[in-house]
Amino acid sequence: MPTANLTETLKNYTKDAQLAELIEEIADCCEQISARLKLGALTGILGALEDTNVQGETQKELDVIANDLLKEALLAIPSVAGIASEEEDLPVGGNPEGRFLVLFDPLDGSSNIDVNVSVGTIFSVLELPEGANGGEESAYLQSGRKQLAAGYALYGPSTTLSLTTGKGVQQFALNNSGEFLLITEAMNIPADTKEFSINMSNQRFWQPEMQNYIGELLAGETGSRNKNFNMRWIASMVADVHRVLTRGGIFTYPWDNREPNKPGKLRLMYEGNPMSLLVEQAGGLATTCFGNILDIEPTKIHQRVAVALGSKNEISMLLAAHQPASASKAAELNR
Ligand code: AHG
Ligand code: MN
Ligand code: MN
Repeated sequence: MPTANLTETLKNYTKDAQLAELIEEIADCCEQISARLKLGALTGILGALEDTNVQGETQKELDVIANDLLKEALLAIPSVAGIASEEEDLPVGGNPEGRFLVLFDPLDGSSNIDVNVSVGTIFSVLELPEGANGGEESAYLQSGRKQLAAGYALYGPSTTLSLTTGKGVQQFALNNSGEFLLITEAMNIPADTKEFSINMSNQRFWQPEMQNYIGELLAGETGSRNKNFNMRWIASMVADVHRVLTRGGIFTYPWDNREPNKPGKLRLMYEGNPMSLLVEQAGGLATTCFGNILDIEPTKIHQRVAVALGSKNEISMLLAAHQPASASKAAELNR
């Protein structure tokens, strides 16, 4: 059966030819990152940043390699007005006449590389506001609702690309010729689940409402939920969210009090927002536990956010468990 490739598929999901071209360029970068990851230690790229290999060349961490690859490719595209990356302190301006701002986490879950566990690339596309400058942070401070496109590549046993342009979520798999082929026309998160994903080692730092909610999941059949739950934590957001998009579940990296001025570990603009749009487009919900992630008006490009996303009915249960905390308390804690 002939399968549509990314270029053919995009024609059905956006009328914006420049946006389609941009997405294809991002996919191309992901294909190159995938090829490097596949070779792992054989290419000598697993060393620390300051290491030198046997030839005396400086080895770079894969985060930096992936970042440079995306940065260089994207800034060469005339429609790109600027980029912002987890690996860049400040945004980098592109073509002042360009339309798009691209935000990305070049390598998510990079602590998993050394142990050969799945990692990914996350991206988000915004429009340059009129009169704004793609080299300035203020241009990027737009709510997640304004995203024109969002997606991620997952470098797992197979490399896949999940993508939304606001018309559902399409999934592609990379073949041996470097082409992304459509494998799922509309990813759909089942509303109910028995699976949750959280770093349990942080339990004592969570807010009481989260302690109670997870406590009930752990109690299973013996607690108020009356059913047993299973737990998964890969420690790569891309891989954990991909599982949720594929077979349901909830994923959360909630607020905790380890560092009171950081409302969560994950970053809003290139982790929380793109993943939230994908989840909503696949029929799920994404929240800070106190409000919708996509409605947050950002104040900083690298700001952090508490994240809980996934199966609609289970996220609704989680939200109900957080009702007792007043809105003012949530605001005070910047959650
Ligand atoms: P990154 O590698 O881009 O910094 O992101 C890592 C994030 C995310 O991918 C994952 O869900 C989380 O950190 C894992 O956190 P723990 O180390 O606390 O498990
Ligand atoms: Mn990340
Ligand atoms: Mn990263």
